[in-house]
Amino acid sequence: MDESTNLFDSAIFQTINIKNLTFKYDTFELTQTGPNGEYGYDLGDQLVLRPLRLGDFDRGFLKILAQLTVVGDDVKREKFESRFRMMKSCPNSYYIVVVEDLKLKKIVGSITLVNEQKFIRHASSRGRIEDVVVDDTYRGKRLGKLITDFMVLLSKHIGCYKLSLECEDKLRPFYSQFGFALENNQNFMCIRFASQPLVKSNM
Ligand SMILES: CC(C)(COP(=O)(O)OP(=O)(O)OC[C@H]1O[C@@H](n2cnc3c(N)ncnc32)[C@H](O)[C@@H]1OP(=O)(O)O)[C@@H](O)C(=O)NCCC(=O)NCCS
Repeated sequence: MDESTNLFDSAIFQTINIKNLTFKYDTFELTQTGPNGEYGYDLGDQLVLRPLRLGDFDRGFLKILAQLTVVGDDVKREKFESRFRMMKSCPNSYYIVVVEDLKLKKIVGSITLVNEQKFIRHASSRGRIEDVVVDDTYRGKRLGKLITDFMVLLSKHIGCYKLSLECEDKLRPFYSQFGFALENNQNFMCIRFASQPLVKSNM
């Protein structure tokens, strides 16, 4: 792997019909963005949408995640690369899409789709949207809308039977525009553990 390695194969973008996005965007065109002809989307203004790359550590990927929640000072290059390799080794499971500002070589938006493989529903899979964030100096320009819209389409494309996310009340209108809704008699329940895991991951 080198710094141009994508988390997932960008060839999947060739098979997605972006006419099926919920909203229309001024510029949203399939293009080849990587050094080896990897696919992404030109969003205009030197912004591209593409899979996370190993080299995005140096383009501020963790800094943008830190605008969403705690990342931790311990996540240095080695830990980032180890986690990247682990995710990449799980085929069809981790889709992290970023927006790069090519002028600044900086990641300005990110969203994760986790595709959880199931035995139920005919050995189907369900999607979870996680870690949606747009750099605070780029907010209000429809980038959040665009990346979420795209991930909803990608989740359908890869065959998820359902897609869910967790958000604060104030963001319900934002997500409901794509079709997310509270379901009757369903509760999101959670336990938070303060301590570090006893079983170390392979990082
Ligand atoms: C939420 C977030 C990703 C939206 O990104 P963005 O690029 O600023 O959003 P957009 O420009 O696409 O906004 C789309 C719409 O959502 C609304 N919206 C955006 N952020 C919102 C917020 N925090 N609360 C309420 N509405 C919001 C906008 O008003 C806009 O509405 P409109 O279409 O009627 O004009 C961004 O504010 C962000 O990164 N926030 C911090 C991290 C976070 O909270 N992530 C979500 C975790 S669930």
